[in-house]
Amino acid sequence: METTEVHIKVLRNSDALVEVAAERFVALATEAIRAYGHFHVALSGGTTPKSLYAMLATDRYAARVDWSRVHVFWGDERCVPPADPMSNYRMVRETLIDHVTLPDEHVHRIRGEDDPAAAAASYERELRNVFRTPVGPPMHGARFDLVLLGMGANGHTASLFPGLTAVSEQERWVTAAYVAEVSMWRVTCTPVVFNTAAAVVFLVVGPDKAAMLRQVLEGPHQPAVLPAQVIAPGDGSVCWLLDADAGTNLTQAGEK
Ligand code: 6PG
Repeated sequence: METTEVHIKVLRNSDALVEVAAERFVALATEAIRAYGHFHVALSGGTTPKSLYAMLATDRYAARVDWSRVHVFWGDERCVPPADPMSNYRMVRETLIDHVTLPDEHVHRIRGEDDPAAAAASYERELRNVFRTPVGPPMHGARFDLVLLGMGANGHTASLFPGLTAVSEQERWVTAAYVAEVSMWRVTCTPVVFNTAAAVVFLVVGPDKAAMLRQVLEGPHQPAVLPAQVIAPGDGSVCWLLDADAGTNLTQAGEK
């Protein structure tokens, strides 16, 4: 049986975490471009990754990635127009895309302005088209090389919120759901896609995440209520990058 390689790194603060994440991004991009000629990365929304994207856009990092071979996707999107301040697409565009030489056709956004079910279906079509996988799950060499994820204090990741059927989806790559906790529709990739990734990197900072991280990483396996636990690519790795505040309750944290 395939087992997921899991690493947990607790960094001294969020600046150190961003450096480690940026180095990992560059290394995985370089490796994928060398192996396949492209780098397919699914980005996360929320607040935490903003400083990573901003760092990747600096001269120091941007010059180390061949952006002409990078394809950018989103793990989830809020159902708002692309110019809305809540749009995950807008956040990534402003912090990263506008500052690097990424071809427009390599930016694969989820259409948050459309009917949610239609946006989910069209995003799944787009992913299948890029990955050339008309049926079944993504396959080796035609899957995400990197998926960046965050985690909410309630254990959600991407827009896989506790109690949603998307958490246990077995076939669809992308679904839409109304999320009562945030009073809005979301479109999210499902575990079918996330769990075929070559590498997943979670970025989690702040003391408000500490208790949930302990449950997710060290508590019993109950993904329906702790959706972050569902992320386990059988032929890939998961790396949890935490700052000291987020990792404070863990008993088995790795490098400091
Ligand atoms: C979103 C995200 C979501 C996020 C977590 C953590 O659209 O909001 O994709 O899953 O990663 O909620 O968010 P923070 O980094 O803001 O804590």
